Amino acid sequence: MELGLRDKIALVAGASKGLGKAIALGLAKEGAKVAICARHKDLLETTAHEIESILGSEVLPIKADVSISKEARKFVQKAVNYWGTVHILVTNAGGPPPAYFEETTEQMWEQAFHLTLMSALNMAWEAIPYMRKQKWGRIIAMTSISVKQPIGRLMLSNSLRAAVVGWTKTLADEVAKDNILVNSVCPGYTLTQRVKVLAQNLAQEKNTQSKEIFKNWEEKIPLGRLASPEEIANLVVFLASERASYLTGNIIQVDGGYYRGLT
Ligand SMILES: NC(=O)c1ccc[n+]([C@@H]2O[C@H](COP(=O)([O-])OP(=O)(O)OC[C@H]3O[C@@H](n4cnc5c(N)ncnc54)[C@H](OP(=O)(O)O)[C@@H]3O)[C@@H](O)[C@H]2O)c1
Repeated sequence: MELGLRDKIALVAGASKGLGKAIALGLAKEGAKVAICARHKDLLETTAHEIESILGSEVLPIKADVSISKEARKFVQKAVNYWGTVHILVTNAGGPPPAYFEETTEQMWEQAFHLTLMSALNMAWEAIPYMRKQKWGRIIAMTSISVKQPIGRLMLSNSLRAAVVGWTKTLADEVAKDNILVNSVCPGYTLTQRVKVLAQNLAQEKNTQSKEIFKNWEEKIPLGRLASPEEIANLVVFLASERASYLTGNIIQVDGGYYRGLT
């Protein structure tokens, strides 16, 4: 299927590794011009070079911490200054730390609010005027299966990602007339650095080994395994494409059947 992504300008936040990197690679494979950001410059530049060397297409690395409003906005501004516009915005970042409610503090909630919700809003405020002008845009918010089925101890993540999907659903309505499509993607357990750290933390807490934690997760997933980052990226690339032209306001899980609800 021709996805119609050639020469589209795509911005992927939190993309030096994990899901963001797989998404950037997937979009670049389809011929999009991609800008990526992360906080650590070295790995970010290595990732950009890695994608360039695989595909021969230019990838623009921009160092930015999207939990800081100015930096999130600058990521978009710098990419637009370089490429001229933005067609596709994928909002993504690291996840807030695991904690039970009584372990959290007001400061932790504030940090998580900026990392998870405000980061997406800031990037969108910058990107939407360009999308409106060209009457074409795709905003894809990376959230988590936890918006459909909250995950134990991820109090901050479960709560603030719910705000993100509330935002995307409402925004989809507001910008549809300018052919800007807004969707949320909810990954289930996916084999990335973050999940390995989560497994280690849980193993420590339960006085067991990481492999036991993975086994426990796998038993809850009908497909019996965690996803690869590419399996999540495949949906994002499709949603970013011309072929997804009638899909907006959706909150779609990619979770191997983990979520047991009907809708
Ligand atoms: N993996 C899963 O199973 C899973 C499932 C559901 C949801 N998620 C969520 O999806 C997101 C990505 O997960 P992942 O597994 O790909 O994580 P990851 O492997 O830890 O990668 C996170 C990426 O985001 C960057 N990043 C982190 N904080 C940032 C910030 N403040 N500003 C800019 N870039 C930032 C990191 O680079 P730097 O450290 O250099 O900034 C890295 O490139 C997270 O929010 C996670 O909670 C993951």
